[in-house]
Amino acid sequence: MANVITRIGDWVNERAPGLMPMYRKHMTEYYAPKNFNLWYYFGSLALVVLVNQIVTGIFLTMNYKTSAAEAFNSVEYIMRDVEWGWLIRYMHSTGASLFFVVVFLHMFRGLMYGSYQKPRELVWLLGMLIFLALMAEAFMGYVLPWGNMSFWGAKVIISLFGTIPVIGGSLVEWIMGDYLPADATLNRFFALHVIALPIVLLLLVVLHLAALHEVGSNNPDGVDTKHGPKGNRWDPKAPLDGIPFHPYYTVKDTFGVGFFLIIAAFIIFFAPTFGGWFLEHDNFVPANNLVTPTHIKPSWYFTPFYAILRMIPSFFGTAFWGVLGMFGAIALLFLLPWIDAGKVRSIRYRGTGFKVALMAFAASFIGLAMVGAGVIGELALEWFPADATAAENAFGRVMTFIYFGYFVFLWFYTRGGREKTKPVPERVVFDHD
Ligand code: HEM
Repeated sequence: MANVITRIGDWVNERAPGLMPMYRKHMTEYYAPKNFNLWYYFGSLALVVLVNQIVTGIFLTMNYKTSAAEAFNSVEYIMRDVEWGWLIRYMHSTGASLFFVVVFLHMFRGLMYGSYQKPRELVWLLGMLIFLALMAEAFMGYVLPWGNMSFWGAKVIISLFGTIPVIGGSLVEWIMGDYLPADATLNRFFALHVIALPIVLLLLVVLHLAALHEVGSNNPDGVDTKHGPKGNRWDPKAPLDGIPFHPYYTVKDTFGVGFFLIIAAFIIFFAPTFGGWFLEHDNFVPANNLVTPTHIKPSWYFTPFYAILRMIPSFFGTAFWGVLGMFGAIALLFLLPWIDAGKVRSIRYRGTGFKVALMAFAASFIGLAMVGAGVIGELALEWFPADATAAENAFGRVMTFIYFGYFVFLWFYTRGGREKTKPVPERVVFDHD
């Protein structure tokens, strides 16, 4: 057997001699820092979820019907009559939510360890483009089952474009292809969801990893291992603190994948709707343009941005400011490498101000998510029945202020020598304080 594999290998090598060096460059001779911790699992987990979405998506497409008249029933057919259809669908719907869990944690790792700082700005920018594409992908996918929340969610979100001065109205019609979300909308969203955006996502992920492998991975100490001391046990010219990605991190990541799959399987088999967070109750009702769901709210992963939209008041009678705020919240993340002028990467050696600000930022993100999901609104009704809206708005606006405040603070804090950092070690360490 080994002989056959070697012979096939030789045969391929002779015809495509460039493949083996490429494999070595990205796998066995890609020296990743030896101190990766739990936070470094999420990149490979995002890859696993991406593959899961593509594979289960292909099988869903085999039985899904792209038309406003048939879409809802075709999903019910998949759930009830197609062999293992329920499993494929729950793997896809759970995968969508877990994708965002994984990507949010992956991004937070970047914030903690300064992975967006020089020389990894391009890795971060490509990551942010992935994030945008992922949001578009998830939004369009959510419309496809043509449930009542698909319909109203699409209507509310597409109508946001209507607040853009001058071109807004025509833009909304152009996106929908009708005056309401309708058959034309469903068809174009299907095309974008199953083919256009997955291609864009795949391409961006390849570029993301190619860009990362040019500059090398960061690590929990933020130490530059690539240009540090040389001479590990595999190669005298390779980083002393680096270990070959394959087999060391392929094995470690496989452990992470196993752990992740146990959690995913638990949700898929025992709690696929996740109490209405992963699949909303209102989406088990067919789309109806005459019946509005009591609370129209987006999927949980959009709620922080949706809350910012809702919390910014309509000055001069237009909701455009809210829309601007919502897109601004994402745009600021793109600009992070230039907002943060800190000299030290990892939170381990950064000033107290940075640590407090980052925790406040994370808390504001969760707070906003709860506002957007209506949790704070319900609590406000219980605790301040007379002033529920005012109480919800007060909370949401403080959270919005903290969210944007983080970027303003970071700008001033990291300039003019205000940040008091700790000395960064020469080499990676395992027992930092
Ligand atoms: C489909 C989504 C994504 C996939 C498959 C993906 C994949 C990966 C992988 C495999 C790595 C190397 C392993 C690791 O460091 O964890 C990585 C690193 C990185 N990713 Fe992503 N990523 C995705 C989305 C994002 C997003 C949305 C951002 C941020 C905006 C981002 C920013 C980064 C950064 C800064 C690094 C370098 C981290 C370091 O070296 O410390 N990624 N990504």
